[in-house]
Amino acid sequence: MSEDVLLQEARRWVRDARRIAVLTGAGMSAESGVPTFRDAQTGLWAKFDPQQLATEDAFRANPKMVWDWYAFRRDMIAKVEPNNGHRALAAFAQRHPHRMTLITQNVDGLHQRAGSDGVLALHGNISEDKWLDVPKGCCNTETAMPGSPPRCERCGNMLRPAVVWFGEALPMQALIAAETAAQECDLMLVVGTSGVVYPAAGLARTAAGRVVIINPEPTELDDAADAVLRGKAAQLLPLLLED
Ligand code: OAD
Repeated sequence: MSEDVLLQEARRWVRDARRIAVLTGAGMSAESGVPTFRDAQTGLWAKFDPQQLATEDAFRANPKMVWDWYAFRRDMIAKVEPNNGHRALAAFAQRHPHRMTLITQNVDGLHQRAGSDGVLALHGNISEDKWLDVPKGCCNTETAMPGSPPRCERCGNMLRPAVVWFGEALPMQALIAAETAAQECDLMLVVGTSGVVYPAAGLARTAAGRVVIINPEPTELDDAADAVLRGKAAQLLPLLLED
């Protein structure tokens, strides 16, 4: 089938679906200028070792290095804007209340900045902090001592980015809501993810309805797809989701 015919077919599926689940990954924000993780040249994990930067052990061993790396990413994300793909998803949800559940692995907050409500952020949000150890009465984010990272002035507990690191559990409520959305959807759009990180990738395999992948490159989930649209999120989503 030609690309154009596939797109038209997928547009019909969007129109007919009562419930749509959308799972996004780093490629969703690529056209906003946020690097992906696994691109061979520009991906973050091509340049940095995730075991040194994205685990609790790494943070405990070298809190300044890990904090500074996240601070660098926060600064970069603060300078970019949502793209037409983020906007198309937000606009569709506004035009069609209660039809779409947006699930993201991204921590960049760009879906939320584009106007999407109720985003299920499976891997947390890079712009937020939380305490490394269970906070005591003295741990108050307002009075934390500034630094890399900021610390509780009484007990020394450290603030850390509120993202999910390797080896950590996903936020339970968001994960359950995402699983329910997958099991109840008529259509799932899988956008800009390599599909290698579980449990997020597993959502595409449990989707009750059709699965459409949007990605310029092959992914680990292509075998689960009813249609693969080989293209970029910011270009294809506005076409796919227009009424
Ligand atoms: P990856 O870097 O693994 O994959 C990004 C995907 O986006 C690839 O399949 C690209 O082909 C695709 N892509 C690139 N540009 C695109 C565009 N303009 N439009 C659509 N797709 C495009 O990123 P994720 O799959 O999101 O986890 O990675 C999953 C998780 O691994 C991340 O959430 C992160 C990482 O380690 C944690 O940090 C816990």
